[in-house]
Amino acid sequence: MMTIDVETLRTWLEEGRPVTVLDIRPMHERVEWAIPGSIHVDAYDALKANDPKAFAEVELPGNIPVVTVCAAGKTSLVAAQQLQARGIQALSLDGGMKAWSLAWNIAEISLPSSQARVIQVRRTGKGCLSYFISVGKTAVVIDASLDPQVYLDLAHHYGWQIECVLDTHIHADHLSRSRRLAQMSGATLFLPDQTRVSFPFTPIHDGDTLEPGTATLTALHTPGHTPESTCYLLDQHVLLTGDTLFPTGVGRPDLAADADELERRASELYTSLRTLLALPPETIVLPGHTSTPVAFNSDPIASTLADIQEQVGVIHATREVFLQQILARIPPTPPNYERIVKLNEAGLLPERDVTELEAGANRCAIS
Ligand SMILES: [Fe+2]
Repeated sequence: MMTIDVETLRTWLEEGRPVTVLDIRPMHERVEWAIPGSIHVDAYDALKANDPKAFAEVELPGNIPVVTVCAAGKTSLVAAQQLQARGIQALSLDGGMKAWSLAWNIAEISLPSSQARVIQVRRTGKGCLSYFISVGKTAVVIDASLDPQVYLDLAHHYGWQIECVLDTHIHADHLSRSRRLAQMSGATLFLPDQTRVSFPFTPIHDGDTLEPGTATLTALHTPGHTPESTCYLLDQHVLLTGDTLFPTGVGRPDLAADADELERRASELYTSLRTLLALPPETIVLPGHTSTPVAFNSDPIASTLADIQEQVGVIHATREVFLQQILARIPPTPPNYERIVKLNEAGLLPERDVTELEAGANRCAIS
């Protein structure tokens, strides 16, 4: 066997199995996104030139399998062959980083005083964060960004029935899997009230509550990142913020907005942040994205409103200064976001080339 698929490598990393992941891409590709714990060898040009000594200088730990990784799984095959010729147990990651986009891991948020359990499902290959909230056997999924089967398998593993599927907003950086997950699980699909999507859903408004088991999930309409953006507050102490507020930044207000709309949304974001920052400082914040690959370490990506108050200086500015600073710091737009938004508004999930469409790091935050 010459190759390893994403699911197998993901499982090895999750189980803590010894493996050396060898990233052979050029450095400028690696800095964009990488596999957590991987090591980099600058062998790309040598391998492309069929230089049989591409790894002559590289020392690798003995008796541990090596997985070679490139962008799409071709050059990494040449790399694995060369290492095998040296007697090393080497495998090439099938589909490369493009396929790795769908890799994931989980972390549980510790909530000692709550009957609810919250599991963060992290799409490590892309930075999208989705959540299971469960009480007893009832589960809610928020911002599903992976193959629906991942959530169905996790629910089965924990003995949960998915009853509600929610999104925080119409996403622009990944294809929402929420509609499909609701169809496959028989759950009710809730979306923030808006007229953007063209498929049936149950609208959720500011102040609405869902009651999974004995828990209460309250919707807080927080426009800014998008007009319909909504945060969900679990039992008054856990806040799922989508792309409105992150541990080190705030949501970008510019996608699919012209200059006037941009300024209006940035101002709305300012007002929405005031609403969130009025909650108790110990409130746990669980964001919808992270801008770096998520390690296989079971540490949740979370913060508290108190820590965010310290970390994110711009939220203390006056409205006028906030607007100036936000508009000056808008990052490059995510690739293909207009097509992704159209598909999410239509509720479509293409069968093929999903990772092609979703390529690129997350760029939903301004920090
Ligand atoms: Fe977003």
